[in-house]
Amino acid sequence: MTMDAVHRIYISGASGGLGRALALHHARPGVALWLWGRNPERLDALAEACRAAGAEACVRALPLDDTARAIAALEHEDAAARFDLAYLVAGQGDTRSPGATSEDPMIVARLIRINLEAPAAMATVLARRMGARGGGRIVLIGSAAAFHALPFATAYAASKAGLARFADALRIAARPLGVAVTLASPGFIDTPAGRRIPGGKPMVLTPEEAARRIAHAASRRQAHLVTPRAFALLRLFDRALPRPWRDRLLRALAPPG
Ligand SMILES: NC(=O)c1ccc[n+]([C@@H]2O[C@H](COP(=O)([O-])OP(=O)(O)OC[C@H]3O[C@@H](n4cnc5c(N)ncnc54)[C@H](OP(=O)(O)O)[C@@H]3O)[C@@H](O)[C@H]2O)c1
Repeated sequence: MTMDAVHRIYISGASGGLGRALALHHARPGVALWLWGRNPERLDALAEACRAAGAEACVRALPLDDTARAIAALEHEDAAARFDLAYLVAGQGDTRSPGATSEDPMIVARLIRINLEAPAAMATVLARRMGARGGGRIVLIGSAAAFHALPFATAYAASKAGLARFADALRIAARPLGVAVTLASPGFIDTPAGRRIPGGKPMVLTPEEAARRIAHAASRRQAHLVTPRAFALLRLFDRALPRPWRDRLLRALAPPG
């Protein structure tokens, strides 16, 4: 990979639906992409598609379950690449099994590690390094699920809510260094993972449209993108409802189990 590319973009979770769409959205001459994920075949196929669009692309298959290892790998990659834009997309969702009152405790631990611990630590690495060289942009992918105490997806809702608070705090901390932090909170996206979510999926976005909106928010250095906008209204509604009413509503929303 040559170092004189105009844009040097890092994407975690590039082997998934949204990460892939973000990579293809940016793929053009003058752009270099570092694509991380777990599935090597999907990463290689994506890199080929990005090269066909004129971008430079390299891949790394690395599980992010070991946060210390992820930090070290990102430090190493950024030292050579000097990213100016990073999307932290990798994440997992889960809901409780039919008949259970909560998720498996190990799933709770895993979701908090993959959706909160790893991206928060990795964003911190990037903010420090970008700040030391004068600026950059970091995008964290949250979820509209963060706005609600979902009783059937406690760990997912909590991990994304934690990530949202982290993103807001890091945004304030990193701004004097010229580093912009954007949190994207999408509703439903039509990816393989999105399709596994039980129940109805109102206002579902294609991965391409979600990627376009998220990239636009990042280019404007927007603090928080909620998309579609109706999910911002649902957040206000959740906050305004008296707690017993809200609890009853959230219980009723639970997918069949
Ligand atoms: N789809 C939706 O409706 C929706 C809505 C709101 C927010 N989001 C968020 O958007 C992001 C992308 O979701 P998606 O729908 O594109 O899901 P996806 O298709 O399942 O992609 C998830 C990506 O994360 C990677 N990943 C998962 N666990 C990992 C781990 N332990 N270590 C390293 N990489 C890991 C996957 O790698 P491999 O595929 O190679 O295993 C894949 O690249 C997630 O953070 C998700 O929470 C999605």
